[in-house]
Amino acid sequence: FRKFTVAIDGPAASGKSTVASMLASRLGFMYLDSGSIYRCATLLAIQNNMKDFEEAKTVEKLVEKILGTKIDMVTEKGDGEGLRRTRVFMDGVDVSSELRGNEINKLVSLVAKFGEVRDAVFVKQRELSKGSEVGGLVMDGRDIGTRVFPDAEVKIFMEAKATCRALRRYNEMTTKGMDVDKTTNKQITFDQILDEIIRRDHQDQTRKHSPLKKASDAIPIDTSDMSIQQVVTTIEQIVKSKL
Ligand code: C5P
Repeated sequence: FRKFTVAIDGPAASGKSTVASMLASRLGFMYLDSGSIYRCATLLAIQNNMKDFEEAKTVEKLVEKILGTKIDMVTEKGDGEGLRRTRVFMDGVDVSSELRGNEINKLVSLVAKFGEVRDAVFVKQRELSKGSEVGGLVMDGRDIGTRVFPDAEVKIFMEAKATCRALRRYNEMTTKGMDVDKTTNKQITFDQILDEIIRRDHQDQTRKHSPLKKASDAIPIDTSDMSIQQVVTTIEQIVKSKL
């Protein structure tokens, strides 16, 4: 059927990528996680020692790096139900787990606030979404409904209390054994995760270029007291009513 786009936006750790990936799997749509592209941009900044963002040339050089790097996203084929892992490659190298590390969590919102960086990521988002022209696309992020796909057929704004989001992220990190800060070698605490989420949301909401905000035509869903399955089913029903 015709191309159909589902835009899912919301704050950090609101469960967007889990829900978006499962939804795409159920609908047979392509899934793209736009946060991963900003994380790739941040990894490129770290790898190339570009840390002084006060320096005008830094952003310019980073933009060149982003545009010159081949970014690929491969979502494993699932059975239509289970959560499928998405692997991210930069110039053929699998960087998926590096992208989720603490160093990137701390730096990514700073990198994402520059208009020039966002424009470069926009080019990548469009390139990556080309493969979905036949079927449909589910993309999650902060500005998908407001800027990247303002004409998306379905727009969802996922929210949840900050403490709920921090707890989910904390449990996820402990389960995956990612609860140690590589730079300090110390255990990451719940309070640190909560602080970081609040700080990142604030930075994402108050930046000048396409800040995180609900599109006027987006449907809000508060997932604080909902299971992943409930959220996926709710959005699936909304999509199906419009197909
Ligand atoms: O979704 P995720 O936590 O991976 O996103 C990482 C960061 O990338 C966000 O905190 C935000 O600063 C930035 N981002 C953005 N616009 C998007 C997706 C992510 O600014 N569409």
